[in-house]
Amino acid sequence: MFRKIGVISILIGMSAALYAQQAAANKAASSSPSKTNATPAWMKKMWPNLPAEQNPAAVARGKGLFESNCSFCHGTDATGGNGGPDLIRSVLVNHDVKGNLIGPTVHNGRPGKGMPAFNNFSDAQINDLVAFLHQTNRNDRVRFNYKILNVDVGNAAAGKVYFQAHCAQCHSSTGDLAGIAKKYDPGALQQLWLDPAPVMKADGTLPPKTVTVVLPSGKKLSGTLQHTDEFDVAFYDANGYHSVPIESGMSVIVYNPLAPHQQLLRHLTDTDMHDVTTYLETLK
Ligand code: HEC
Ligand code: HEC
Repeated sequence: MFRKIGVISILIGMSAALYAQQAAANKAASSSPSKTNATPAWMKKMWPNLPAEQNPAAVARGKGLFESNCSFCHGTDATGGNGGPDLIRSVLVNHDVKGNLIGPTVHNGRPGKGMPAFNNFSDAQINDLVAFLHQTNRNDRVRFNYKILNVDVGNAAAGKVYFQAHCAQCHSSTGDLAGIAKKYDPGALQQLWLDPAPVMKADGTLPPKTVTVVLPSGKKLSGTLQHTDEFDVAFYDANGYHSVPIESGMSVIVYNPLAPHQQLLRHLTDTDMHDVTTYLETLK
């Protein structure tokens, strides 16, 4: 039976322009390699499971392998594409330690789910792919690093105006963000509001998502998403746990509470970014 379902997922995503910026930043970083590769303490605090810097040669080899074998489905930057999921925001990739999860997935594939087996790949090739995925994931998360040296060079008054127009519907300078500048240095503060990833808890779990299910009858149910795939959607609401089979004529709308941040970034100019950080720095 052909299932016609509407699934609107406000996914974690970034604009092509930001990736281009990141690519430029990475290029600049690789042409003038920094002497210290160690992850600074504040970064470790913000991203407890941030992958380590990978060996650049392995990353380069992995990139080549990825482009010729995987990008067709997963996209050249591994953020998903023609049928293959985003591997940068993948829970599996994020929880992988030295290939323990990615390795078997690539080697055995997921028969019947569209992921072919690459059982002709050597361990060394798999390690290179793993290095590429972890480095891309790391670069993606710390993509604004290169601006840290001059973060609070903006105009606080302009930043306040921007904040009131774009942030105040969810945040308050005297409420949840009061004193935020006491907790973070300017670099960390900028990272924090640009990239909501830090709200991932120390145990690696993600903040809960909210789901609204509209049944064919028009009845709406909303709750905290537990799981969804092409067959079922499971969530909790005040009445407890529900697992609803997905059927024709039904909509499943998943809200990602952090999506507004990613959407903001699409329109954010460098000036806005500096102004907002400079303004947030005044919240002491
Ligand atoms: C023909 C398309 C296709 C190709 C080529 C492909 N994949 Fe996949 N891949 C998929 C699909 C579809 C899934 C999701 C399967 C599922 O629903 O469980 C997937 C899943 C994965 C996952 C698990 C992601 C997760 O979050 O569960 C990893 C890791 C992965 N692929 C890596 C690779 C790598 C590395 C290559 C290249 C060596 C590759 N894939 C090539 C289609 C593809
Ligand atoms: C539609 C709602 C929404 C908008 C608009 C929004 N945010 Fe957020 N923001 C969130 C959510 C949700 C979080 C996750 C943490 C939480 O639940 O407070 C968050 C987290 C943050 C944090 C981290 C707070 C902490 O203590 O860890 C900062 C700082 C922040 N946002 C600043 C901003 C700024 C600056 C803007 C405007 C440029 C903005 N946000 C726009 C919803 C929003």
